[in-house]
Amino acid sequence: MRLEVKNLDKTFKIYTRGSIEVKGFNNINFKLKKGEFLSLHGPSGAGKSSILKTLYRTYTTTSGNINYYKDDGTVIDIAKVDESEILKLRKEEVGYVSQFLQILPRVSAVDVVSQQLILKGESQEISRQKAKEMLDYLSIREELFDLSPLTFSGGEQQRVNIAKGIIAPKSLLLLDEPTASLDKKNTIRVIEKLKQLKQKGVAMVGIFHDLEAMEMITDKIYELKRV
Ligand SMILES: Nc1ncnc2c1ncn2[C@@H]1O[C@H](COP(=O)(O)OP(=O)(O)OP(=O)(O)O)[C@@H](O)[C@H]1O
Ligand SMILES: [Mg+2]
Repeated sequence: MRLEVKNLDKTFKIYTRGSIEVKGFNNINFKLKKGEFLSLHGPSGAGKSSILKTLYRTYTTTSGNINYYKDDGTVIDIAKVDESEILKLRKEEVGYVSQFLQILPRVSAVDVVSQQLILKGESQEISRQKAKEMLDYLSIREELFDLSPLTFSGGEQQRVNIAKGIIAPKSLLLLDEPTASLDKKNTIRVIEKLKQLKQKGVAMVGIFHDLEAMEMITDKIYELKRV
């Protein structure tokens, strides 16, 4: 077991608007094993992105549990542990690929991606080499490697974002529409990489708009209705 989500609820309270309450999602329950891929599926506004952000603890939980099972058998409730534990978990165990690339200006594509390996203790040279191979695999032209992705096209930025998210995979990976602005060829390449991660035992929770892409990778679909 990698993850067990139990009775998860989220209501947003907007204090600047006289404490208006907005339902995020309610009563979410699922289990995820190592190497399994679960897709969250449902209409716009059903709470898919909010669930991912709650699993990453970008959002707090209103009620329920998010039990994360470490390899050594310890269980951490992501909904409840303190902030320092969450930072450690993000560093070592849980990765999140946002829908859009968020990076600092003036950092090159190769550096954005290789940084992830360097953080894990890989040498500068090998990290840069692997980053280039990944960018090349995802059809980023070599002439772009040393430029900042901030001026890249939407699809190119997304591919850099995925390269960054998967080059040094953690045990649980959360993916918010990783193929949304990609063409068919690159969608399939991303899916192939995700399949390799599954084989290495990485558990994943993802959101796809493209049903065909979803079906290529998904083991379980969790259907959401609008709350
Ligand atoms: N930070 C927030 N503050 C207040 N309300 C929020 C916040 N984040 C999400 N919501 C609300 O929660 C609901 C679910 O939003 P969410 O982004 O999770 O939907 P989604 O299923 O990802 O939709 P889409 O398919 O359009 O991306 C929406 O009604 C949204 O307005
Ligand atoms: Mg969303």
